[in-house]
Amino acid sequence: MSVKVHFLLEDLLVEAPEGTPLQAIADAAGADITFGCRTGSCGTCRVRVAEGLGHCSEMGAEERDFLQGLDAPADQRLACQVTVHGDVAIDYLGL
Ligand code: FES
Repeated sequence: MSVKVHFLLEDLLVEAPEGTPLQAIADAAGADITFGCRTGSCGTCRVRVAEGLGHCSEMGAEERDFLQGLDAPADQRLACQVTVHGDVAIDYLGL
């Protein structure tokens, strides 16, 4: 089954297999998300999940700690830590 990912900044709509890392989808689509560490520790890939937050993988402890340290709202995620399990809309924030 495939999922639709809408990158709002570029109004880019792409499809990918369910369970694909958001990072891989963004890279393949050429979406304008800056990845640094790709391990959940730098925050350059911070996004707002405008739609479909419940279709994203659960947060790991490292991602949760990082975002809590920024006082980030619950709809923000680190794109390098998310796998996508349903349709989502993504807004890039960065640090
Ligand atoms: S690329 Fe560093 S936290 Fe995602």
